[in-house]
Parts: sequence; structure tokens; C-alpha cells
Amino acid sequence: MTRLGSGGWCSPWEAGNKNLKRRRANHLVGVVKAQTTAVAAPGLKQATFQGKKVLRKGVVVITGASSGLGLAAAKALAEGGKWHVIMACRDFLKAEKAAQSVGLAKENYTIMHLDLASLDSVRQFVGSFWQSGRPLDALVCNAATYRPTARTPTFTADGYEMSVGVNHLAHFLLANLLLEDLKKSDYPSRRLIILGSITGIHT
Ligand SMILES: NC(=O)c1ccc[n+]([C@@H]2O[C@H](COP(=O)([O-])OP(=O)(O)OC[C@H]3O[C@@H](n4cnc5c(N)ncnc54)[C@H](OP(=O)(O)O)[C@@H]3O)[C@@H](O)[C@H]2O)c1
Repeated sequence: MTRLGSGGWCSPWEAGNKNLKRRRANHLVGVVKAQTTAVAAPGLKQATFQGKKVLRKGVVVITGASSGLGLAAAKALAEGGKWHVIMACRDFLKAEKAAQSVGLAKENYTIMHLDLASLDSVRQFVGSFWQSGRPLDALVCNAATYRPTARTPTFTADGYEMSVGVNHLAHFLLANLLLEDLKKSDYPSRRLIILGSITGIHT
């Protein structure tokens, strides 16, 4: 982290984010809920937000939705009928096969490329998401790499140890870049969810 003259802190990658920092007019509608529990079904029965009815589907981005908990969450949310799932995955083909393997209906999901081992890929993902014109109602930072028995470390494109770079730094950047979009959401169940493992403290 780099200290800014103003007294704030600036992460090393923020210098590279200037192009992405252009923002649409922000109308903050309240505080984004953050939770650190495992994926839980949001309050899908809630049909109103601050007295307003929301008639559209929510849009949720799930990182690492090609297997495990991410895929299970994608399936549960898509099948509930109230969410369109953006599967943010590094391997498009694997993600497509995974979606088909659990019977996701085409209209309920979109696969977008995101390799968390590269901060540039995070920025590109966010740029593509903004270009899609979709709102963002929930972000699930789920993807992770865990190699406790590896004899030698591996590194991200930016030179960080892989699990630190993928599990933490890339998600930190992703959440930061998308936070204003989440704040603008008028969807009842908007939230930022970060998954973690107690074993992560040993990596
Ligand atoms: N399973 C458990 O018992 C457990 C317990 C506690 C916490 N958690 C947490 O729950 C979350 C999911 O765990 P899981 O067991 O479901 O994991 P998993 O099945 O191993 O899935 C991990 C996902 O992360 C993706 N991923 C890995 N590196 C990536 C990268 N560089 N860029 C983009 N995506 C990447 C994988 O993509 P590929 O398919 O391309 O490899 C995969 O989709 C993790 O945050 C984990 O710490 C899990």
C-alpha cells in the first residue's frame, strides 16, 4: 500500500485504474450489506425496497462459478427465478460445461471471462461488465486457489504469491471497482459476499 499525500491509502494497482475510474452519476440509495458467511440464499421473498416494487431480475456476479460452492450458488440463484447469474470464470469452456451439467437455463446465466491471477484481467472484466449495461445487485467473491502441499510457490501475473493474489488482492480490486454499482442497486437483496476459509490464514 502507498500513502497518499492527502492522508489516505492507495493500493499499488490504483495507479492503473484511472481509465476505469470514470463513473456514471451516482445516486446512493443506502449502505451495501456485506457478509462473510458461506453462500446463503438472499431474502428472495422480499419484493419491495424502500417501498418500491422491483419488477426485474437481480444481477449477481459470482467469481469461480465453474465448480464447487460457486456453481451450487449459481444453480440455486438461477433456479429461484429472481436472479440472472454472471459466471465470472477463467475457463469459458469449463464454465459452460459446468452450467450445462447442472441444467442452468440459457436465459438465466451469462459467462464472462475473469482470471483473478491477473489484475489487468480484473479491470478488463469490470470494463466489459460496465459495457454490458447491466446493473449490479450482488457480488459473490467466491473463487479461490488453495495449494497447501505445493513445494514451490507460484505467482500471479503481477508477481504476488498465487493464493494471496487470487483469493485476496484481485477480489479486493474487483469489489472496489464495483462498489459504486452495488450502491446504486435498487434491488431488495443487494449485497457483497466474500467467502473465506479458516485455512486461508495459514497460506
Ligand atoms: N469447500 C469447502 O469445504 C470450503 C470451506 C471453507 C471455505 N470455502 C471457500 O469457499 C470458496 C469456494 O470453495 P470451493 O471448495 O467451492 O472451491 P473450488 O471447487 O476449488 O472452486 C474454486 C473456483 O475458483 C476458481 N478459480 C481458481 N483460480 C482462479 C483464477 N485465477 N481466476 C478465476 N477463478 C479461479 C476455480 O476455477 P476453475 O474451475 O477454472 O479452476 C473454481 O471455479 C472458496 O473461497 C473457499 O475458500 C470452501
